[in-house]
Amino acid sequence: MYGYSHAIVIGASSGIGEQLVRQLVIDGTKVAAVARRGDKLGALANDFTGQVLPFSHDVTNFGEVPRLFQEITQQLGGLDLVIYAAGVMPEVGGQEFSFEKDKQMVDVNLLGAIAWLDQAAVRFENTKSGTIIGIGSVAGERGRQGQPVYNTTKAALATYLEALRNRLSRSGVKVVTVKPGPTETEMTAHLHMKGMMSSSRAATLILTKSRKNGEFFLKFTHKIAFAIIRNIPSSVFRLLKI
Ligand SMILES: NC(=O)c1ccc[n+]([C@@H]2O[C@H](COP(=O)([O-])OP(=O)(O)OC[C@H]3O[C@@H](n4cnc5c(N)ncnc54)[C@H](OP(=O)(O)O)[C@@H]3O)[C@@H](O)[C@H]2O)c1
Repeated sequence: MYGYSHAIVIGASSGIGEQLVRQLVIDGTKVAAVARRGDKLGALANDFTGQVLPFSHDVTNFGEVPRLFQEITQQLGGLDLVIYAAGVMPEVGGQEFSFEKDKQMVDVNLLGAIAWLDQAAVRFENTKSGTIIGIGSVAGERGRQGQPVYNTTKAALATYLEALRNRLSRSGVKVVTVKPGPTETEMTAHLHMKGMMSSSRAATLILTKSRKNGEFFLKFTHKIAFAIIRNIPSSVFRLLKI
């Protein structure tokens, strides 16, 4: 249905990344699943013997990425899709400014993405084909009070992906930015929010959107709502509790 033969999913041990692996394998894709928790990746590999190759890796170990990328592509026997799904959003209090938490978000959500997707860009530019998917968020649309640095990492990721798309589209490479809204995963379990999208639905929509090059919200209502929210003047936005 989606037509990918060999994929790497970084951030594959839970939530949206895990669902992306499951749906890609069911669609006939051989997938390298990357994350820190080897037990979770092992369980995923056991569910799909021979179709999921597990690789334990912490994305903040940036120096490991070039060698690991080569090893994975060799073991897979090809590559036409790379998805960066790793992300963290620790709980941050309303008046809390923790550089430790902030650095972790920048390292995982942004620098890890750049380390992996730079490798994908070089390979796909050479092969003149391939698809890169980065998972942004509606949270990157404005600088909201609740999560200053999470918002920042998602805004920066969207800008990096746009630039990658502008560089690579002339080589026939797609760079797809997807922006989910609240989705039921380990990341959001503490929010106890009603009406969240399931991680399986988010994965289906992400793979469907990846047929086209560009930047996409998963829900049409978000496309409309954030077109309005983006245009609220800063002086008014700061008075709103959103
Ligand atoms: N849930 C939402 O509402 C929502 C909305 C918009 C966007 N997103 C984005 O969607 C993506 C997936 O998040 P999720 O909601 O599915 O959360 P999740 O279930 O917590 O998954 C996060 C994934 O990132 C991996 N990860 C975190 N730190 C890592 C590190 N240092 N090295 C390697 N892997 C690391 C985790 O694996 P290990 O812990 O095993 O390393 C896990 O596989 C994230 O980019 C998130 O920002 C989520």
